Amino acid sequence: MKIAVINQKGGVGKTTVSVNLAYGLASEGKRTLLIDLDPQAQSSRVFCRTIPKQATVQELFLNRTLDLSKVIKPATISKQKVERLDLIPANIHLAVTAEQIISKIHREKILDSHLKKIDAVYDFILLDCPPALNVLTVNAIYSADVILIPTIYSALSLDGIADLFDSIATVKENTPYRFCILRNAYNPNTTVSNKFIEKNLQPYQDNTLKSVIRRSEPINQAHMNKEPVFTFDPTSNGTKDFISLTQEIIAYA
Ligand SMILES: Nc1ncnc2c1ncn2[C@@H]1O[C@H](COP(=O)(O)OP(=O)(O)OP(=O)(O)O)[C@@H](O)[C@H]1O
Ligand SMILES: [Mg+2]
Repeated sequence: MKIAVINQKGGVGKTTVSVNLAYGLASEGKRTLLIDLDPQAQSSRVFCRTIPKQATVQELFLNRTLDLSKVIKPATISKQKVERLDLIPANIHLAVTAEQIISKIHREKILDSHLKKIDAVYDFILLDCPPALNVLTVNAIYSADVILIPTIYSALSLDGIADLFDSIATVKENTPYRFCILRNAYNPNTTVSNKFIEKNLQPYQDNTLKSVIRRSEPINQAHMNKEPVFTFDPTSNGTKDFISLTQEIIAYA
């Protein structure tokens, strides 16, 4: 199952969710590949000691016949290999690549044509997208079986959700896909904002995941420390919430 983690709004938790869900799935015995599609390379920093200058997702977009084993790396945290988790890292040059491929024919299918070759190797492939509806995100939408949309409890994170669905519908045309919304950074004290967001999510309630990720300081500190919350603070609410999300996604698959 290929899951694209998408929201064109910045800072809603796409990378946090990609990193922790990838780690959670691998911990549950699932062979998982995380692909960093963001030139900011935030998820690469978690699972790679140093950001590689070469052999990144950039090559995959520039060379349609690339042997993927050249860019797939075993994920590591503080030099320790993470069992069953692989990574295709990004670096800042991916931003230029995105510009370069805009004029190519079938540009939206480049990622998908590569992933078809390795579908059988992994139980889950996660795509951490940039905060834009650009050609990289369009490649992720084209390839994904499931579009996972994290939102936070702020009106901004829902602004533009209609545009997102329009883009998804255009890219997918008649291809079947599923989408789900994940509520992130829930704070029980902000009752009025919570009600506002829940009301706005009502039209999508059948597609809203039951698991909610609470706002949790260990999640934020883990992000700063460049590691999953699972290893940073295994008993935190953040870890508990990501275990519950992992199980829901496995059941969903
Ligand atoms: N549940 C949470 N609790 C506390 N902090 C969180 C939570 N989720 C995300 N954050 C923090 O919010 C910030 C943004 O998260 P993240 O980088 O995952 O968002 P993003 O959508 O990937 O951002 P971008 O659009 O820039 O790629 C980070 O500092 C992260 O630690
Ligand atoms: Mg991100």
